Amino acid sequence: MEAVIAKNVSIYYNGQKAVEELSFKLEEEETLLLMGPNGAGKTTLLRTIAGFHKNYGGELLVFNKPPGEAKELISYVPQSYSLNERVPLKALEVVAIGGIYKKGFVHTKLSKEVCQSAEEALEFVGLSQVKDKPFSELSGGQKQRVLLARALISNPRLLLLDEPLSALDPSARVEVANVLGKIKQEKGISMIITTHDVNPLTEIGDKVMLLNRRLVAFGTPDEVLRDEIISEVYGPFSKAVRVGNRLYCIIGDVHIHKGGARE
Ligand SMILES: Nc1ncnc2c1ncn2[C@@H]1O[C@H](COP(=O)(O)OP(=O)(O)O)[C@@H](O)[C@H]1O
Ligand SMILES: [Mg+2]
Repeated sequence: MEAVIAKNVSIYYNGQKAVEELSFKLEEEETLLLMGPNGAGKTTLLRTIAGFHKNYGGELLVFNKPPGEAKELISYVPQSYSLNERVPLKALEVVAIGGIYKKGFVHTKLSKEVCQSAEEALEFVGLSQVKDKPFSELSGGQKQRVLLARALISNPRLLLLDEPLSALDPSARVEVANVLGKIKQEKGISMIITTHDVNPLTEIGDKVMLLNRRLVAFGTPDEVLRDEIISEVYGPFSKAVRVGNRLYCIIGDVHIHKGGARE
């Protein structure tokens, strides 16, 4: 079964098309890297697949269901996670919240069962040692791994990650990319990951989509990460470079900045 099928999907805000006539399929267990400049519609597409944004036309199916009916199967990690850091939540509690929300009610005390799953999820992302530390005191890479653990606790079949690497320094990017690789290898979950910097992730991407309001290209990394394709969106100084068996993308610093464009 396909994780996502989109046929001629257009997505609207107030009658304006943010994404136009998009068609693609993502097979179960595949990882899709979603690239495109600021304002390309990446977040809009993720929120639509997650069932949060409902103003779209065309056919969109997530595991053969309309997005709103597939919420149980999806975990969505938004880009800038704003946790109220004055509430001194421990890492373990942040993870456990993922297990509570999913059940649709909130306990005042975390059940043993939820705490147990939270511990396992933290162990999976390699952070058992910080479980009792306040979330606000963790490094950027550790925070992102905690949020991944939180997304995993409900055993989703599709993980939607909006710019999980964007706020991180290069070494933290590698740290988080390694966890994403582990999720792919050991959990077999489908993932859609939006990213400005595709380089730490080219190895785990089965498919790459280049979006610029319309679909510019969709295919394997080898098919999409080519000079002539990426320079269409990122300008003439963009290059795809192969080093050994790894692909790197050198993207000229050309971004479409529109007044009021939101991340
Ligand atoms: N809540 C909103 N209301 C109106 N327009 C929006 C809203 N969110 C995003 N947009 C517009 O939709 C377009 C795509 O935005 P977005 O999906 O955030 O792009 P990306 O994530 O690729 O940077 C942009 O032109 C943006 O201004
Ligand atoms: Mg965005």
